[in-house]
Amino acid sequence: MTGTPAAASAVSAASATETPAAASAHDPIGHLSPTMLEGHVAFITGGGSGINLGIARAFARCGASIAICGRTEERLATAAEELRGMGAKVAYKAADVRDPEALQASVDHAVSELGDISITVAGAAGNFFAKAEEMSSNAFRTVIDIDLMGAYHAARATFPSLQRTRGSILFISASQAFKATKYQAHVGAAKAGIEMLMKDLAVEWGEHGIRSNSLVPGPVAGTEGMARLAGPTGDDMWKRAVPLGRYAETEEIGAMAAVLSGPLSAYVTGSQYIVDGGLGLVGSGHISDAVEQSLFSEG
Ligand code: COA
Repeated sequence: MTGTPAAASAVSAASATETPAAASAHDPIGHLSPTMLEGHVAFITGGGSGINLGIARAFARCGASIAICGRTEERLATAAEELRGMGAKVAYKAADVRDPEALQASVDHAVSELGDISITVAGAAGNFFAKAEEMSSNAFRTVIDIDLMGAYHAARATFPSLQRTRGSILFISASQAFKATKYQAHVGAAKAGIEMLMKDLAVEWGEHGIRSNSLVPGPVAGTEGMARLAGPTGDDMWKRAVPLGRYAETEEIGAMAAVLSGPLSAYVTGSQYIVDGGLGLVGSGHISDAVEQSLFSEG
């Protein structure tokens, strides 16, 4: 029954103490088994902050050892301290994913400190809004280099480990891979490339027991990516666009990444997982319009 005083007071009592569903959303990794990833070593590009740090936290919660890689040593050191505080063994060595030799050195360091890698997360990304006809060739290439080439470099550098461990690769993608979006031509091209790379590796490396999947986050609170994307338009427009009406927390993405990277998904490969509150199902029109209004309109 709805609309009765009894129902109304039940709703307000539930809001005061929070419903079970809301409580889960606030502690998304608390429900994961602390032994689910015991014995695993994860290598996470872009793991010093944002979504990828949320993934590292979820893996730490599940008992994995964690290697993080990013461009900024200080950021990695701060993240490593937090992950060690959660009880994880942690290694880090700074590298730009665009530089295959530096990335290989970061992977080699991780293997020497923690052992063979069994989970690779290709998460490093770059983004900005720009008109396709105005951005430079270098601007377009920069995002292809970070997102697509960086993902390939991470897969390539960790392949020998993944072959020995019969491990898993998770590519962090975006809805621009399948939803046409104005001022994101560079990002859409890079992320669509990542999706096909994910499928090609699932087919080619399946014989080694290596699984390959992608995770498509929607807008995630407190990340540099959302600060960049919502900077021109404000958060409210994005939240209204998401069918669930809110941003994700980094740990909600992390929880799904842990499930996809661990034994629960042992028979899952070549699959794309959308964890976006439904954003991928709605068109990009109003987001494009709001960006156009704030960044590119004349008056
Ligand atoms: N509009 C148009 N072009 C832009 C731009 C913008 N907002 N921002 C950067 N560019 C262009 C630059 O002008 C340059 O092109 P040019 O040499 O022809 O002038 C090219 O992109 C590379 O920029 P640069 O700043 O030299 O690259 P970088 O390697 O230092 O930084 C970025 C890479 C641009 C992707 C930067 O935004 C970044 O470091 N992002 C990482 C973090 C991030 O984006 N996180 C969110 C992930 S969703």
